[in-house]
Amino acid sequence: MARLVGAFAASHGPLLVREWNAIPADQQRRLDSAYREIGSRLSSAKADVLIAVTPDHWSNFSLDNYPAFCVGVGATNEGPPEPWMKDFPHKELAGHPAFASHLVKTALDAGFEPAVSHRLKLDHGLCIPLWRMQLASMPAIVPLIVNSIEPPFPTVRRCLEWGSILRKAVRSFKKPLRVAVLATGGLSHSVGEKTMGAIDEKLDKETIRLFAGKPEKLLSYLEKKLPKAGNGTEEVRNWLVAHGAADCRGFELVDYLPVPVVIVGCGYASWRTGG
Ligand SMILES: [Fe+2]
Repeated sequence: MARLVGAFAASHGPLLVREWNAIPADQQRRLDSAYREIGSRLSSAKADVLIAVTPDHWSNFSLDNYPAFCVGVGATNEGPPEPWMKDFPHKELAGHPAFASHLVKTALDAGFEPAVSHRLKLDHGLCIPLWRMQLASMPAIVPLIVNSIEPPFPTVRRCLEWGSILRKAVRSFKKPLRVAVLATGGLSHSVGEKTMGAIDEKLDKETIRLFAGKPEKLLSYLEKKLPKAGNGTEEVRNWLVAHGAADCRGFELVDYLPVPVVIVGCGYASWRTGG
């Protein structure tokens, strides 16, 4: 039987690469340390498969077709298409078709209908965390793309429920696979709108506080706050998927710091998943 061996969350943002050298030294050290800590915990978990819960920044989808959820079932996916990500060390990332297909079947059987892709481009949203985590070896990546980019969005409750689907899929997979979850994105940020660059530290801290408590309070807080928050904040949906996968228990903040140079409230967390 497969086991869920870890769940993690890490922020991303293009400026974490493009403006890295402009970040004040003390913040740069904390960011570096937080990514490495998540990387170290993931390595210790010895995951064979990493379910990457991440948005698509218009690399695969467009206004012509933007699924709420999409599972990557291919044997390989492409590395980041952004020219400024050209030094990312992987042009291709191996997938895990057998587990990914089992995840899709588990979802369908439970009344969840994800889109399916046999070939995705995995953009900076996932590849910045993977890069900065400095993993010695890369697990197979099963992408779960969650629309947290373009309204209408899936509800925050649905995202939490998707976490239960991941948990169920892992526990019902018959082979002895070690599976971890990495949610990327958030916390507060605002891109290409009037409030561009704003970081809502108060909202981020309250969100973090609520992750440690009962899920209903977290959901109702986010339902109320997200429509008025910076648009990038919607990516906290991915954290909700990881939270659901961990059965809403064992949340631990690794670090949080608002970083004005990269215009993101940067958060890093892990959950105890209980196997
Ligand atoms: Fe993003």
